[in-house]
Amino acid sequence: MGDYYIQGGRALEGEVQVQGAKNSVLPILAATILHPGTSVLKNCPRLRDVEASIQILRHLGCKARWEGDALIVDASAPERWDIPDHLMRSMRSSVIFLGAILSRFGRAELSMPGGCELGPRPIDLHLAALRQLGAVIDEGGGRLRCEAADLRGRELTLSMPSVGATENAVLAACGSRGTTTILNAAREPEIMDLENFLAAMGCRVHGGGSSTITVEGRQPTHDAVHTVMPDRIVAATYLAAAAAAGGDIVLRGVDYRHLSTVTAALHEAGCLVESGEDAIRLQRRGRLRAIRPVRTAPYPGFPTDAQAVLMAALLRSQGTTVFVENIFDSRYRHVDELCRLGADIRVEGRVAVVCGVERLQGAAMESTDLRGGAAMVVAALAAEGESRIGSTAHIRRGYEDILRDLRQLGAAAEER
Ligand code: UD1
Repeated sequence: MGDYYIQGGRALEGEVQVQGAKNSVLPILAATILHPGTSVLKNCPRLRDVEASIQILRHLGCKARWEGDALIVDASAPERWDIPDHLMRSMRSSVIFLGAILSRFGRAELSMPGGCELGPRPIDLHLAALRQLGAVIDEGGGRLRCEAADLRGRELTLSMPSVGATENAVLAACGSRGTTTILNAAREPEIMDLENFLAAMGCRVHGGGSSTITVEGRQPTHDAVHTVMPDRIVAATYLAAAAAAGGDIVLRGVDYRHLSTVTAALHEAGCLVESGEDAIRLQRRGRLRAIRPVRTAPYPGFPTDAQAVLMAALLRSQGTTVFVENIFDSRYRHVDELCRLGADIRVEGRVAVVCGVERLQGAAMESTDLRGGAAMVVAALAAEGESRIGSTAHIRRGYEDILRDLRQLGAAAEER
């Protein structure tokens, strides 16, 4: 796996199609287990995390194959309800399989998901929700052993609107008797996409996208064909790239409603943003301006996953912008790498202060995490000369081919 080499200083021009959403397809792949039949997922992105999910599905005894951009999963006859340690570690969001396996088998055995580059990522809310539905969970020796012979629907409240815990609760509730109401559910658009996929299989889930979700326990009734929603964070990355490098780009296949906080921030910084039914155009000619504090928050607030790429876009802006990261503890690991380009960023706890500089100079950087790595790509586009970005495996977890897309927009970028 090569490093990325980027010659900065070229404006971006042209159009690019945005891939299907990683954070949508991962829970949907877990949900395919619920149905003893076939699920067809169109617009499925080819990502490292999707490959990891396929490995888990195959281990469980499912079949999975690609047909163009569609992934076809056959869960007619899974034979196992355990996930071994090495598969759990290959992807942090593997815990989302817990609710799905419980729903199908009434039992599950997984190791604790591995450590995380964004700081501790506990699963206490996931387990509390499953326990409220009647699962008995033993957490000894780094393994999670779950028995749920009789899951029963009920009203449950999440103490925080965790995306993963909401998804796990929805999946387990599908296999429960009676109706489950999830209060303080996460409202991210990816949960609506999971609801749409479950509905395509004949499950009865309502309220996705709001903070109250209702699930009538019921096994899926038929094969599903579903088109994965567009990836709003990949879209945010390419918008940030054009804001950083300057130019005039159009993103196709996006839902502008999912990106309103990101486009509002870029508009405030001086970009011209026009949104159509499934396209967004961004133009940036002069120097960007600093913007009011950017505070990350659960949807519909500013997404934590877009914090790093917006920061990268503002490195050469006029003035000072403050970022406040409210979701994850260690989400400024990209900052030291961005400073190698000559950026002026100071971090204290949850706050990062970006003082715009006149120019950035290309440098060598190492990806620290998925979105941090993407931020380095964005910053490199705005720097003079060549930058090298190493440890690109992080970036490939969530971007099908970031260099292909940026080259299509005219960037000088290659893998070596
Ligand atoms: C999902 C996304 C991730 C995004 C995040 C927030 C996927 C595959 N990943 O992650 O890209 O950055 O939402 O939008 O969809 N928490 C607990 N206990 C729990 C669960 C979560 O304390 O049991 C905390 C987390 O540590 C974090 C916060 O809640 O501080 C939000 O996490 P959560 O919404 O669960 O994020 P993920 O589902 O892991």
